[in-house]
Amino acid sequence: MAARRPLIVGNWKMNGLTASLAEATALAGKVQAQAPQAELGLCPPATLVAAMAMTLKGSGIGVGGQDCHARAAGAHTGDIAAEMLKDAGAAYAIVGHSERRADHGESDEAVRAKAQAAHRAGLVAIVCLGETLAQRDAGETLKVVGSQLRGSLPDDANAANTVIAYEPVWAIGTGRTPTLEQVAEVHAAIRQDLKARFDDGAGFRILYGGSVKPDNAKQLMAVADVDGALVGGASLKANDFWPIVEAKGFK
Ligand code: PGA
Repeated sequence: MAARRPLIVGNWKMNGLTASLAEATALAGKVQAQAPQAELGLCPPATLVAAMAMTLKGSGIGVGGQDCHARAAGAHTGDIAAEMLKDAGAAYAIVGHSERRADHGESDEAVRAKAQAAHRAGLVAIVCLGETLAQRDAGETLKVVGSQLRGSLPDDANAANTVIAYEPVWAIGTGRTPTLEQVAEVHAAIRQDLKARFDDGAGFRILYGGSVKPDNAKQLMAVADVDGALVGGASLKANDFWPIVEAKGFK
């Protein structure tokens, strides 16, 4: 099995106007100057996907959507199909982010259908999982994450079309992170489940997400089975994002 190429993805969430494309340009400049080995992606709000894809063309930085609908087209006001993201120049779709699971009541089943839609459209699905603080305190982390993993991954998932992002809900946007041991424990459990279910389970990238910052990235990215990061707040500015890329992006 080939070594897993690290992947660092920025999730801009509901942030960014046209002027923010300057940050993508700045990031592209750093990539051009220093050529990291890691694969890089930015997921801006849907309004910027096409423009960012244009801005980043040829830079080696991929663009992604933050969600997609399960269907390819139809009467679903306000929704965006995976095919539309692909058409706009996207390479990835984040699905099942905890903010969507919470704000829009997305179930594992819904997330699975979205991941399948991403695959149908030729996008890499970045499937998010993670426990709440109450679940962690109750000692249910591995049970919760295991069941989300089983329920959210379609059978057609493979190491090329699917990336897992472990994001403890209580670590997202809070400045709190799990201990390195806690991260290692969950990533090892996810790896074991992937290997048990998929022939190429050893090849899936498993990202850590939740308050990854320039000052903690090196430690987090060095944990076994952490193949990269899904970064929210610190991905909005190229100068914050770059040290995180550096933490995993160079041998
Ligand atoms: P954060 O968000 O880095 O701002 O904690 C991570 C995420 O939600 O993907």
